[in-house]
Amino acid sequence: MNKISTKLALYFFAAVLILELFLMFYLHRNIIHSRVDEEFSRLLANGENHRDVLIENYSESTIKHIVLMENNNDREVMIINNEGVVISSSDENNPTLEKYVPLVMKSKSKTDRILVSDYKDSPYIVSLHPYQNGEHSGYVLMYQSTNSINRMVNELTMHFGLAGATSVVIILIIYGLLSKVLTRPLIIMKEATEKLSKGDFKVTLPYASKDELGELAVAIQKLAKDLERLKKERNEFLASISHELSTPLTYLIGYAKVAMRKDLNEKERDRYLSIIAEEADGMKDLVKDLLDLARIDENSFTVNKEYFWSQPFLDNIYKLVEPSFLNKELKLKTESKKNFQIYADPLRLQQIVINLLDNAMKYSDYGKEVRLEAYSLNGRAVISVSDEGIGIPSDEIEFIFDRLYRVEKSRSRTYGGSGIGLSVVKELVEAHGGTIEVESKLGKGSTFKIMI
Ligand SMILES: Nc1ncnc2c1ncn2[C@@H]1O[C@H](COP(=O)(O)OP(=O)(O)OP(=O)(O)O)[C@@H](O)[C@H]1O
Ligand SMILES: [Mg+2]
Repeated sequence: MNKISTKLALYFFAAVLILELFLMFYLHRNIIHSRVDEEFSRLLANGENHRDVLIENYSESTIKHIVLMENNNDREVMIINNEGVVISSSDENNPTLEKYVPLVMKSKSKTDRILVSDYKDSPYIVSLHPYQNGEHSGYVLMYQSTNSINRMVNELTMHFGLAGATSVVIILIIYGLLSKVLTRPLIIMKEATEKLSKGDFKVTLPYASKDELGELAVAIQKLAKDLERLKKERNEFLASISHELSTPLTYLIGYAKVAMRKDLNEKERDRYLSIIAEEADGMKDLVKDLLDLARIDENSFTVNKEYFWSQPFLDNIYKLVEPSFLNKELKLKTESKKNFQIYADPLRLQQIVINLLDNAMKYSDYGKEVRLEAYSLNGRAVISVSDEGIGIPSDEIEFIFDRLYRVEKSRSRTYGGSGIGLSVVKELVEAHGGTIEVESKLGKGSTFKIMI
């Protein structure tokens, strides 16, 4: 369960540890080097001092003084002549000091220098200072015990070890805090999505920070809201659909039963049968529209655009709808100022226009006029359908493209619509990448304009 935090901790731990080891190694080496260098310089400076005094005034008392000065500390001095014979030493009982004389003889150095620098294994570091005063010449040797240097190095190593151990503990504490801060919200969000997948959309996530985690929490919250809304819409939609289908079915069953009666004459039976046919036709249209909507939702719906001429397209529509308009004694005028090319799916565009004309016809009274116009504007085809019908109240215009929305339910019962047509029109227009506009005045008429 805590996989992310474990991974994170491992990476974090490894990165910090490598960095820390590198830094510590570097610091440790440098500090020790500079401290040891200091010791070397101090030794050289002291030796140089003694040698200068000796050159200035070579006498027994000077030698005594020099030896006396280095008597009571962890430094020693030894003065030898050119043959390597010891003239004086600050610690005469210490045979170790003389062990270095052969080295001096071998080096025969003319300048001051460090003779032994190995502070780890040798008991002393040694500096060498040649002197010459008349017939007296030889070397001043300075010794510094390495005990103190090694003690200092050990102490330093111990401090570094302590600092390293402390930082490991601190890293572990930071890891603990980090894993809480990072993984807790993730676990909460995981639980929330599990709830969502079980159909429980009431998720409330605690306020998260303004980072990616916070954004994720907001996205999940939004998803929950959307899913809840969709579920509600789907239920309402299903309820309306079953209502829409059951009403004509009731008529169908009623009229079918009446038509089956034996005592009916031929004319009456024909009337009932034609009512049945009409209702069944309406239901077929409704089911077709619903199928279209479902396919648009599923994205399995394709628009096959092609170029075609506007005039024959309008003529064909006119032929299709003219009988119904004549039936209702409505005038239908089509107008296309110029014959131009339209780039669209001709069958879908026809479905759009027929839907709009069907509304214009349905919501206009006898004797009124309906105009179908087409023209080209800025390379796009504009098709408008205007009527002098009952119009749409301005506060309802924004809803007429919603599925199953009808202006006043009672009104639509009179006019026989189910509120699907315009939602199909809108989806089809948008599938073409086009737009649809409405202008309407209650009691005066409406104009639907599509641009494709
Ligand atoms: N030209 C119009 N004049 C007046 N009202 C209209 C017009 N076109 C649409 N409406 C209003 O908008 C509502 C939605 O229209 P839509 O075409 O979606 O549904 P419908 O015509 O009622 O049913 P359907 O088209 O599914 O048979 C209609 O119920 C009607 O009230
Ligand atoms: Mg309609």
